[in-house]
Amino acid sequence: MAVTRRGFMAGGLVASASMLQACGRRDPDAPAGVPSNSEPDSQPLRGAVVPFDGPHQAGIVTPTQASLNLVGFNLREGVDKAGLHRLLRLWTEDARELAAGRPPVGSLEPEMNQWPANLTFTLGLGERVFELAAPARKPAWLHPIPEMSRDQLRPEWGQTDIALQMCADDPVMCAWAMRHMTRAGADYVDTAWVQQGFMNAYGAIPTGQTPRNLFGQVDGTVNPYSEEEYGEQVFAEDGSTSLVVRRIAMHLDEWEKLDRATREASVGRSLADGSPLSGGDEFTPADLGATDKYGLPVIDPNSHMARAAAPAGHPEQKFKRRPYNYNLPPDPAAGELSNAGLIFIAYQRDPDAQFTPVQRRLDEADRLNEWTTHIGSAVYWVPPGTGAGRDAYWAQTALA
Ligand code: HEM
Repeated sequence: MAVTRRGFMAGGLVASASMLQACGRRDPDAPAGVPSNSEPDSQPLRGAVVPFDGPHQAGIVTPTQASLNLVGFNLREGVDKAGLHRLLRLWTEDARELAAGRPPVGSLEPEMNQWPANLTFTLGLGERVFELAAPARKPAWLHPIPEMSRDQLRPEWGQTDIALQMCADDPVMCAWAMRHMTRAGADYVDTAWVQQGFMNAYGAIPTGQTPRNLFGQVDGTVNPYSEEEYGEQVFAEDGSTSLVVRRIAMHLDEWEKLDRATREASVGRSLADGSPLSGGDEFTPADLGATDKYGLPVIDPNSHMARAAAPAGHPEQKFKRRPYNYNLPPDPAAGELSNAGLIFIAYQRDPDAQFTPVQRRLDEADRLNEWTTHIGSAVYWVPPGTGAGRDAYWAQTALA
């Protein structure tokens, strides 16, 4: 069945109130009560709150907000299991307040917190946290992604003990959330890296359309949308999941030398609206077997889409992609005109069974490889959600 983003939203109304709340957005073109991914002006953002508590953490199902601060933290020397629990408790309490638009304890400027603009926090824990606090409960898949032949990983974008994904539709709110959480955790953790990213803002793209990356491609179309798909691909029974972060440089200076047909062929989709080259609209399933009048494939078997799609017999090789663009100052001395790429964020039940086989296929052959280089990699366990009847704070039970 073709699944559209709008279809997911409408289906969500019936399926799950909590998932609907997680979307947190209103679209004036949509039928009453149906949230969407676009908003025509900034005013409603003042009231836009994504519920913090729930069966799973926010920031996974939540439609991509405009700003990302993804921070990799390492535990400070001497922080023990009790200290780790204190950190997770205080961070959860503060994040819950910030997401609701209330000043957390110790907030210096309560005015900065009043309009959260869909602020979400999503916490992930690295392998070392389990080794410190609960070695027997470490998931079997919680280890580095195996090295790929094309990887050029840089240590400065590598594995950390903790990742905290903060997203909001207002860059000031997003910056403030990061500032607050970093300061609140300063006795327990040091910042190893900050990955700052952005996506199309509310109302900047047509209602229901998926945001674009800096190659100009609509990026994020084939994803889970229904509660059932999230259950199959993303959330374990307890609401936990995994986070894979890949930092991928995109060589815009070379990419832009290509003609439009070559750029479209490399992915297998049109640049205009993200529709598959086999026809239809953005959400029409691609026909990978379609041939043209000469009997040649319409979608190149080595296109990114054809290589990334779950092959027959492997329906498990799917996951939630929640990518963000980055765009940093280029180094003129190195002759660069750009220093841009993708903070590729994937959520799945088990990276060994889902992310890694797909990445292996792409590493072997993917026309996009000529213009992309993986420069960072990290994997985290993402604890279930919090709230009444669940953990009071992140990972309370798992690390008990
Ligand atoms: C800079 C790097 C990348 C770029 C620019 C990129 C771009 C795209 C685009 C434009 C699409 C088609 C539209 C869509 O369904 O979202 C797509 C699809 C997809 N990408 Fe990527 N991608 C990148 C890296 C990756 C990586 C590292 C993975 C996973 C290992 C991945 C997995 C997928 C999957 C699973 C699909 C959907 C395939 C399908 O079933 O049709 N991508 N990507």
